Amino acid sequence: MTRKLHINLFINSRGHHEASWRHPDASPLPLTDIQYYHDLAQRAEEGLFDSIFLADQLAARDDVERAARTWLEPITVLGALAMSTTRIGLIATASTTYTEPYNLARQFASLDHISGGRVGWNIVTSWSVPAARNYGDDAQVSHADRYARAEDFLQVAKGLWDSWADDAVVDDRGSGQYGRIDRIRPIDHDGAYYKVAGPLNLPRGPQGRPVLVQAGSSDTGRNFAARHAEAVFTAQMEKTMAQKFYTDLKARVVKEGRAENQVHILPGLSPVIGSTEAEAQRLAQELNDLSDPEVGRARLSSRFGGVDFSHLPLDKPLSPEDFPDPETVQAARSRTEMIVGVVRREKPTLRQLLSKLAGARGHFTLAGAPEQVADLIEDWFTDGASDGVNLMPPLLPNMLDVFVDEVVPLLQKRGLFRTEYEGETLREQYGLDRPDAGFA
Ligand SMILES: Cc1cc2nc3c(=O)[nH]c(=O)nc-3n(C[C@H](O)[C@H](O)[C@H](O)COP(=O)(O)O)c2cc1C
Repeated sequence: MTRKLHINLFINSRGHHEASWRHPDASPLPLTDIQYYHDLAQRAEEGLFDSIFLADQLAARDDVERAARTWLEPITVLGALAMSTTRIGLIATASTTYTEPYNLARQFASLDHISGGRVGWNIVTSWSVPAARNYGDDAQVSHADRYARAEDFLQVAKGLWDSWADDAVVDDRGSGQYGRIDRIRPIDHDGAYYKVAGPLNLPRGPQGRPVLVQAGSSDTGRNFAARHAEAVFTAQMEKTMAQKFYTDLKARVVKEGRAENQVHILPGLSPVIGSTEAEAQRLAQELNDLSDPEVGRARLSSRFGGVDFSHLPLDKPLSPEDFPDPETVQAARSRTEMIVGVVRREKPTLRQLLSKLAGARGHFTLAGAPEQVADLIEDWFTDGASDGVNLMPPLLPNMLDVFVDEVVPLLQKRGLFRTEYEGETLREQYGLDRPDAGFA
């Protein structure tokens, strides 16, 4: 079978551009209106996307006065979208640092049943410092400790999803037998962080386990992804960097004894699409003109775990010494490495750096006509940089509409993207094996 692209829609505010929420073409709906998420998911389903994805942070943003960054709790949203869509995969973010594995395994198993096997879990360890304060910690849990806890969490969650055999339920009214006790087992997990007896209190979902998604790009994050992830989101600002990441991660996957094609690498892409390149550039400029550098400055500080950048002038070229060594950062480490890399290579002013990050926070941005966007996607896909794209429209819903109407048909014509849904479950859309529960 020829290799096909996978496309995920990453839903964020009224678009991924920091100023999208203020743009006259952005959706008029409140960010707390489920209709907004429903309309986007349905549009992505019309475009035959593999999945939609909802990110999550476990703290209110301190820039709420000037940035529209509120959202509904993702697992709850998936429950609603599971009922209002039929084919598209639904991926929600949940934290291994600030949830209990038994609760989360139940929620995802329930959603898998509700959606007919269409859910995925974006596993995060929660890098935001304010999140720690909402869960009884004064200081943030260290990077290493967060990943160690995540490892233990995953063992429990997988054990629970596998604690019922697929044929554990008989539900025979005549004989009076509901379950087969020999097909349901405890997990008796006694790890460094969690002690969980099991089994789960509900039968195995259609996919066995939800599709596991991960987005950590540090060395530890990549090893974690190589062991567990089936789709990987990543922020890459250049194709050569994306190729390096792709080759490195696939090698780690093989080293873990897994098949390369069981892990899809989906770099973020935030395209401003116009009927011509000039029109796209004009729209990109409109969005940039609406940006507030002080919102960007606060966001940069949060990326580095709260470092104060207020003394840096906006219009003087930056140097790497203006930033802490990313190795010492306990927050989103790989993103800070990427930012310091841009500063080292391009020596931008703070204003220029913030404008670069305003588009999509360090993901690849592009302003062009539909053909240019399709060319880029094809080039990355065929030249060892991606297995598809994590689409991050800068402005919602209209940049999603343009992508579905103009770019998807080009990708289909080139034989790169499906022309109809072939499978029922998210695993089937992504071409992923269904995990065996390990009963004899
Ligand atoms: C596309 C994408 C989406 C992400 N979504 C979330 C999220 O919703 N919540 C979160 O806490 N972190 C999120 N992250 C951050 C990652 O989970 C991870 O913490 C970050 O990339 C740093 O990982 P590292 O410390 O291994 O470098 C996301 C990252 C990417 C690339």
